[in-house]
Amino acid sequence: MAPDSKIYVAGHRGLAGSAIVRRLRAKGYSNVVTRTHAELDLVDQRAVREFLGRERPEAVFLAAGKVGGILANNSFPADFIFQNLAIESNVIDAAYRAGVQRLVFLGSSCIYPRDCPQPMKEEYLLTGPLEPTNRPYAIAKIAGLEMCWSYNRQYGTRYFCAMPTNLYGPGDNYDLQTSHALAALLRKFHDAKQAGARTVTVWGTGTPRREFLYSDDMADACIHLFDLPEQRLQAALAPGQPPLVNVGCGEDQTIRELAERIRKVVGVSADIVFDRSKPDGTPRKLLDLGKLRALGWRPRVSLDEGLALAYADFLAEPAPA
Ligand SMILES: NC(=O)c1ccc[n+]([C@@H]2O[C@H](COP(=O)([O-])OP(=O)(O)OC[C@H]3O[C@@H](n4cnc5c(N)ncnc54)[C@H](OP(=O)(O)O)[C@@H]3O)[C@@H](O)[C@H]2O)c1
Repeated sequence: MAPDSKIYVAGHRGLAGSAIVRRLRAKGYSNVVTRTHAELDLVDQRAVREFLGRERPEAVFLAAGKVGGILANNSFPADFIFQNLAIESNVIDAAYRAGVQRLVFLGSSCIYPRDCPQPMKEEYLLTGPLEPTNRPYAIAKIAGLEMCWSYNRQYGTRYFCAMPTNLYGPGDNYDLQTSHALAALLRKFHDAKQAGARTVTVWGTGTPRREFLYSDDMADACIHLFDLPEQRLQAALAPGQPPLVNVGCGEDQTIRELAERIRKVVGVSADIVFDRSKPDGTPRKLLDLGKLRALGWRPRVSLDEGLALAYADFLAEPAPA
């Protein structure tokens, strides 16, 4: 891609999309096109076709979607499956119609089976039942991947799917009703510090193991893949397999260990209490990064470093009520 190639980033105000825009600009891409949700509703097929047909970008990063933690996924399963299916199918098809040859679709590590062997290799996709708490979201993400693969096969496009692990970083969602585990914990420890509370309640047993990647590292990995010589990327995306690359940091820890790290970063001495009536979700989620490493990418931001950066960003932004 030339530095002035037009690149559309869908979802540029979100955690993932904002990191992608920062990284594209830092790498010298000067012609990044964005639209807010209010300006372009990606569920509206006609609007999406008109927009992409008019703009005709050379490449698209699809980082828009309906995203949330266990509570939101459990409470609004219809919204999660409908909105994600609609956004993906509208953007991927309209991109093809507008002549876009390169598209990076952001999936999620929850596409892998609930009891997947660990670490999870790309080839384990669709080898077992999904985790029920986020099955509608996961099925929508699998459909998006299948769309990229189908368009490549039928139309010769070069669309691929990055499957990031759990993300955190600047601009994360700290609303306790809709946030993911890490952001919710940061918010809870911060609130406990403000209130002088003696305890912080953490959902579940604290034993599930999770991997967390700083959003700027995720963006760096996606753009690293995007910038690879085409033949090198295609060689890594095994023929006959979905065009999929895991994106993670390669290390996991228990939710208890994560809570202890966050307590330290926030600087509060509250005790951690586990609410075992709440669901744990998948017991372990660690991505296998063999493919990504073979393509020459390594993470840069350690978890402690990233947590400190995320907390500094949280403090700089007024937290939602
Ligand atoms: N967060 C994670 O841990 C994580 C992990 C793995 C993969 N991902 C992937 O990254 C993608 C983005 O996640 P995120 O964490 O960045 O989510 P996010 O912070 O909630 O951002 C999602 C973005 O999509 C926009 N959006 C949603 N519905 C839209 C619509 N109908 N029309 C236009 N824009 C719409 C949102 O705009 P509004 O806020 O204005 O609605 C927001 O800017 C997800 O789809 C997921 O595949 C995320």
